[in-house]
Amino acid sequence: MNLAQRLKTIIATAPGPEPVQAAGWLRSCRNSKSITFLDLYDGSCQAGLQVVAANGLDNYESEVKKLSTGCAIQVTGVLQESPAAGQAVELHATALEVVGWAHGASYPLQKKRHSMEFLRSIPHLRGRTNSMGAMMRIRNALTFGVHTFFQQRGFLQLHTPIITSSDCEGAGEMFTVTSLTSEQLAEQAKEDAPFNQDFFGQKVSLTVSGQLEAEAYALAMGPVYTFGPTFRAENSHTSRHLAEFWMVEPEIPFCDLDQDMDIAEEMLRFLVATLLDQCPAELEFFNRFVDKGLTQRLKGILANSFTRLTYSEAIAELQRAETVEKFAYPVTWGMDLQSEHEKFLAEQICKSPVIVRDYPTTIKPFYMRANDDDKTVAAMDILVPGIGEIIGGSQREERLDILTQRMAAQGVAPDEYEWYLDLRRFGSVPHAGFGLGFERLLLLTTGLTNIRDVIAFPRTPGQIS
Ligand code: 4AD
Ligand code: MG
Repeated sequence: MNLAQRLKTIIATAPGPEPVQAAGWLRSCRNSKSITFLDLYDGSCQAGLQVVAANGLDNYESEVKKLSTGCAIQVTGVLQESPAAGQAVELHATALEVVGWAHGASYPLQKKRHSMEFLRSIPHLRGRTNSMGAMMRIRNALTFGVHTFFQQRGFLQLHTPIITSSDCEGAGEMFTVTSLTSEQLAEQAKEDAPFNQDFFGQKVSLTVSGQLEAEAYALAMGPVYTFGPTFRAENSHTSRHLAEFWMVEPEIPFCDLDQDMDIAEEMLRFLVATLLDQCPAELEFFNRFVDKGLTQRLKGILANSFTRLTYSEAIAELQRAETVEKFAYPVTWGMDLQSEHEKFLAEQICKSPVIVRDYPTTIKPFYMRANDDDKTVAAMDILVPGIGEIIGGSQREERLDILTQRMAAQGVAPDEYEWYLDLRRFGSVPHAGFGLGFERLLLLTTGLTNIRDVIAFPRTPGQIS
């Protein structure tokens, strides 16, 4: 089989006599007396290619007329100017091979709008729809954009481990990894150190963040970033939590919180600009069918710098708003901001992405740097309209004595983190970083509202199909 050209290239080609070969799946078929019109797509672009197959083809009666949505075909033909609106060219077939039939009526996708709920029930086929196709191309462009952004700035990509013994976020939301059978586990559970006999001789889990390991290499190589799968056994049935998601985590030595916020903001703006440049058809699709304010919101991100507030200022703003707005969770200093508060800050108060900094020590993990006020840490979250938190970051505590005090206060066992403390013993420097939830970035850039729709195979509590 010759490798066919991708449709993205073909539809941008001028009409002419040279034979063109395309391959893909049918989105629809329309038979008239002696001609069949096929809407072909191959995943490379938002537009389809109209294939015109006439009764001169050898297999016209035997095969072409029997084609249906979902069939895979390979077609050779010539490009002619298309009389139809919305497409410059159409492919007039000189030979058409049916590569895979799609067993007629049982094919679950038809040329109509399917609900996102329905599509979630067929994750293995939904990639063939316009909406998932557009989302996946945006995901791909953003992935490349993340690497471009950091590589252009001299960051080194680090692959941090997926199996780990440290709970970076201290939230106890980790998936245990074991090679023991359930019988062995039950037997071990009766002992003092139940994971002694396990593969690693201790309890280990799937990572909730690559940050701690990234810190080790930032203090060895200069700026680094990780971009990998991240796991959280959070039992959250929300539209913005996954049990398995992807996180972008840069870590920068000789860097304070202000510089950290600058990099995060610059990165978001770079990624949005990349999309506007590389995925105009996909954005137009989402702007038209999913969220009419999408393009305008993305352009707004490019045009205006993000509002910056301290946590205390944010609380004061929210309390002022509370006189007219009813929140499910009343606003008090010291509370963790709930998603309703985060959204209200971004949507109503700032009307733009907003960076909130200096959160109360008590609600943040042990590694964040203590501020001089003894009440807050040098943390920052970026909150965006419609979603709330998309980035969480901080300056790290680089002072050994303060870090050990913080760990003790939060009940973090020091023996597990001796290596982390070594980083403060030997050549410690101020450093900072952040984590971008990649799927939340996709919610922001597609206008889709459920995080299950921005990853190919979502994993959520009770759901793994
Ligand atoms: O705020 P988080 O928990 O920060 C960290 O893990 C830090 N160690 C990052 C760092 O400084 N290197 O998570 C970072 C981001 C959140 O802002 C959110 O966008 C995303 O990760 N996130 C999730 N996305 C989907 N599903 C979940 N369950 C998520 N939990 C966090
Ligand atoms: Mg966070």
